[in-house]
Amino acid sequence: MKVFITKKIPEIGMKMLGEAGMEIILPDNNDLTRYEWLEHCRNADAVLNVGSRFRYDRAFFDHCPDVKAIALYSVGFDQVDVWEASRRNIPVGNTPDVLSRATSDVAFLLMQSVARRASYNFEKVKAGNWTDFDPMHALGQELYGKTLGIFGLGRIGFEMALKAQRAFDMKIVYHNRHRNEKSEKLLDAHYVSFDELIEVSDVLSIHANFNPDQKGIFNQSVFKRMKPGSIFINTARGGFHQQDDLYGALVAGDIWGAGLDVTDPEPMSPDDPLLQHSKVCVLPHIGSATHEARNGMARIAALNIIAFSHGEIMPYCVNP
Ligand code: DGY
Repeated sequence: MKVFITKKIPEIGMKMLGEAGMEIILPDNNDLTRYEWLEHCRNADAVLNVGSRFRYDRAFFDHCPDVKAIALYSVGFDQVDVWEASRRNIPVGNTPDVLSRATSDVAFLLMQSVARRASYNFEKVKAGNWTDFDPMHALGQELYGKTLGIFGLGRIGFEMALKAQRAFDMKIVYHNRHRNEKSEKLLDAHYVSFDELIEVSDVLSIHANFNPDQKGIFNQSVFKRMKPGSIFINTARGGFHQQDDLYGALVAGDIWGAGLDVTDPEPMSPDDPLLQHSKVCVLPHIGSATHEARNGMARIAALNIIAFSHGEIMPYCVNP
């Protein structure tokens, strides 16, 4: 079976695919044009996709009729029209669980970094502006006993809530499309409506899977209803927030600060005004960037492809 891997993945996955007898096609550069990507895909039986630059939609499937399976090197699967893939009997695999700790670590890191204005203070040191101790300057806020609102209490949201509870005794509220009673009990978390979530959270952290119908749901009207002292964290997908509205809300004082590991678009422009705000921390989509998580993702992506090649159901398949 010919597998096109859009970017080289950690050795563990490459080795598994090689040992399973796959014919691996790797691009000769890491910055494929759309044309090059499509040409490689056209010649493959399966695609192992790294990153979210390319969309696997109806036009793609029409153009690449020989592609019979897609294994994503990510837990998010918003770059694939799964409904269209399912209609064509094309299984789509993702890599859940193995990155939940790493990604929630980054959400936790951002929460603390924003609360203590880490970017602003790092920049001051680097620029040689480390001034004398000032009782009133660059004050942050403490998180002890505050309310953490989780939008999407899945595996990553659960890990974030657990850390916040253990470290800061934070109260957990959450909103999901469906209640998650098991996690609710384990965390003593309270299920609330979307409206209540945005109104009661001191920190609001997004951990949901992104669907196009949720584009920009965190917008001006939502930020206006959040607490003026609140912190907005997004480590899921940049599409969830309206970036200009977020900046406007920070400037207007509707919310206090923001931590982003995902932006819209990615990469974020270095001229984005958010980067100049003293209570904003932005990371370049590094949620899963640990050796442990990335090796786990490589293993699962390879397992998905190998299972498919044996005519089995992918162990991590997102088709309904
Ligand atoms: C994921 O796994 O979805 C990460 O965001 C990387 O794309």
